[in-house]
Amino acid sequence: MVSFTSLAEEILVSARRLDEHLASNNLPSSSFDHDTLVDLPNDVEVARDSLINTTQTLKQLAQGGVGRAMEIAFSWTGLLSLHAIYSFKIANAVPLNGSTTYSDIAAQTSIPESFIRRFLRPAMSSHIFTSPTYDTVAHTASSRLFVTLPDFHEGIGLQADELAPVAAKTVDAVRTFNDSGEPHETAFALQNKMPIFEVLGKYPERGRRFGAAMRCYTKGEGYDLRHLIEGYDWGSIDHPGAVVVDVGGGHGSVSQALARSTRNIRYVVQDLPGTIEQAKKELPADEFAGRIEFEAHDFFTDQSVKGADVYLMRWILHDWSDGYCVKILRALVPALEKKKESRIVLFEYVLSEVPETRLTERMGPDLDMIMLAVFNGAERTRREFESLLQVADRRLRMTKFVKPEGSAMSIIEIALEG
Ligand SMILES: C[S@@+](CC[C@H](N)C(=O)[O-])C[C@H]1O[C@@H](n2cnc3c(N)ncnc32)[C@H](O)[C@@H]1O
Repeated sequence: MVSFTSLAEEILVSARRLDEHLASNNLPSSSFDHDTLVDLPNDVEVARDSLINTTQTLKQLAQGGVGRAMEIAFSWTGLLSLHAIYSFKIANAVPLNGSTTYSDIAAQTSIPESFIRRFLRPAMSSHIFTSPTYDTVAHTASSRLFVTLPDFHEGIGLQADELAPVAAKTVDAVRTFNDSGEPHETAFALQNKMPIFEVLGKYPERGRRFGAAMRCYTKGEGYDLRHLIEGYDWGSIDHPGAVVVDVGGGHGSVSQALARSTRNIRYVVQDLPGTIEQAKKELPADEFAGRIEFEAHDFFTDQSVKGADVYLMRWILHDWSDGYCVKILRALVPALEKKKESRIVLFEYVLSEVPETRLTERMGPDLDMIMLAVFNGAERTRREFESLLQVADRRLRMTKFVKPEGSAMSIIEIALEG
């Protein structure tokens, strides 16, 4: 049984750890004006997560059943506020330090002052902007990022401009297409009259925003490639002649990071022809680049590089419904049959088997909704990955499953047995 007091006592322990960290490092105390909890040592990171999760539980208990659901039901108002801030570039009309007036923001953005006041209120209730006096507005740590961190600006823009309207079409899409799993039968396609990949190709500005937003969401410790580099025994295959095929490798950022931390492995980055052309141009001319090759290859067709040591896929299967994932895996089987030591290595988000209640683990269910609405893809549990393997080929076995400490992503190694 939990009590309000026992939860509050847990919170006190974590809060004390954070305050000790700030004091012992001569850092200013916590404030909404400046973030002080950055680059935390592991144990302080754990204390912070615990504080976030326990305060959330305490708040939800105190809210009661109606309050908990209503908070979600009304959350679109906060997103509307962010949408206005993004679209009218309100943050750029406020000096990074000091303050300005509502009327000055209205003049700079050509939006009536009354709307500026109204749009900013929901954001201010989350300490995004502040109003030092009745007539003035100043930045906080969060609102300043709209100006100082372009990827953050685009990360908000993608959600508010592109994904919120798509979310509103998702129930319609399920009614219309059921579980077809087709990439062109999604809420995104209903909203935009074409699937995501076509939109990104046809409208470069939207493609650029999509890329910037992805960088924003995957920045930080949880998505650091270090977890893939240190969490898998690349050393055991790092001998002359070893080959890693980076299937759907995009511009080759994963292969580049791996090449820098290995000595002998040759990397073949495969993707669709347009992406490969672009990737070749962008490859930095450093000493590791000599071990990276590019090849146009459609991963739904038989793998062209047979008997490689590893077929690596980061963020590939989550883009696709089960039927397509099965096709991608089956296309690798003939290549795996050539060498019994060959492995498939997935680097993917893996959902926990039971629904998460910790706020710090919300990203998984959130990403899963995005994958459904935009791609007809899915984030999966370990059990769901295992069942994909079984459907693709009964000889495919999950031989390793590692979620490195501090990583949001897991490493799954798969072998072809028998
Ligand atoms: C989410 S991105 C992941 C890129 C890369 N693995 C990474 O982690 O940075 C998915 C990639 O799959 C590629 N892709 C989509 N369909 C493909 C296909 N049929 N064959 C090969 N690559 C494909 C896309 O061009 C894109 O680069």
